[in-house]
Amino acid sequence: LLSVSSLTIICGSDLGGLADLLDNKTVFPYKDIPHFPNSTGKTPSLSCTLPPKTVQGSSVCMQGRFYFYEVPVSLQVTYPVRVFFLLGVETLIITNAAGGLNPNFKVGDIMLIKDHINMPGFAGQNPLCGHNDERFGFSFPCMSDAYDKDLCSLAKKTDEEQGCSSFIQQSVYCMLAGPTFETIAECRALQKLGADAVGMSTVPEVVVARHCGLRVFSLSLITNKVVTDYNSQEKANHDEVLETTHMRTQDLQRMVSNLLAKM
Ligand code: 6GU
Repeated sequence: LLSVSSLTIICGSDLGGLADLLDNKTVFPYKDIPHFPNSTGKTPSLSCTLPPKTVQGSSVCMQGRFYFYEVPVSLQVTYPVRVFFLLGVETLIITNAAGGLNPNFKVGDIMLIKDHINMPGFAGQNPLCGHNDERFGFSFPCMSDAYDKDLCSLAKKTDEEQGCSSFIQQSVYCMLAGPTFETIAECRALQKLGADAVGMSTVPEVVVARHCGLRVFSLSLITNKVVTDYNSQEKANHDEVLETTHMRTQDLQRMVSNLLAKM
């Protein structure tokens, strides 16, 4: 249909008026084009000028473009969170195992999460990608208040009252997609970014939970320290993660039940 000199315009959001540049156009709604994505929930269309040509050769204009964030790659991971929401749950507590990036952290420390870096989100892997499902929340939810400050303070206070200040300061968790552990260069980069611990989970659930208005409290068990030294013989490995998890299971149970008793 199109010649080498054909022109395509992908119109930015709400700039579809550019399609008016085309005369004699034929309009194809995306939904009528086989296999064409239509994730926006709007009624986008493709306008084509068929010969006789107007601009240079035939032209085609996308009115309604696609964003990387429109494809819900990790929504399945977070499906249970929406089930909990529909069941009437109001608060979500999430725990994880994480590698310690902060040099002051020790294996076995428990870190309250005050904020996160959604690294997969930087690359378009956000569970809210795709058409916003209004039944759960608004588009473009805020994440600057993702972790409930009151629950975090209560956890710290409860822990201190129990005479076992095992929670280290409120810190930043960084999620990477995994399933590989990090390279040394990646660990160094994450430290520079301001992350204190790194793991492969939690953030998608937090994003979906905040979208539907759940209160979130989350903590990381530091199961191992990341390797940042090229001369080190240490290697991140899953056995160490499991070992530390077993060692601290009862402490974690006690902390969470103490917190629940105070809520
Ligand atoms: Cl060192 N890295 C990642 N990505 N996840 C972890 C971890 C490290 N330790 C526990 N989980």
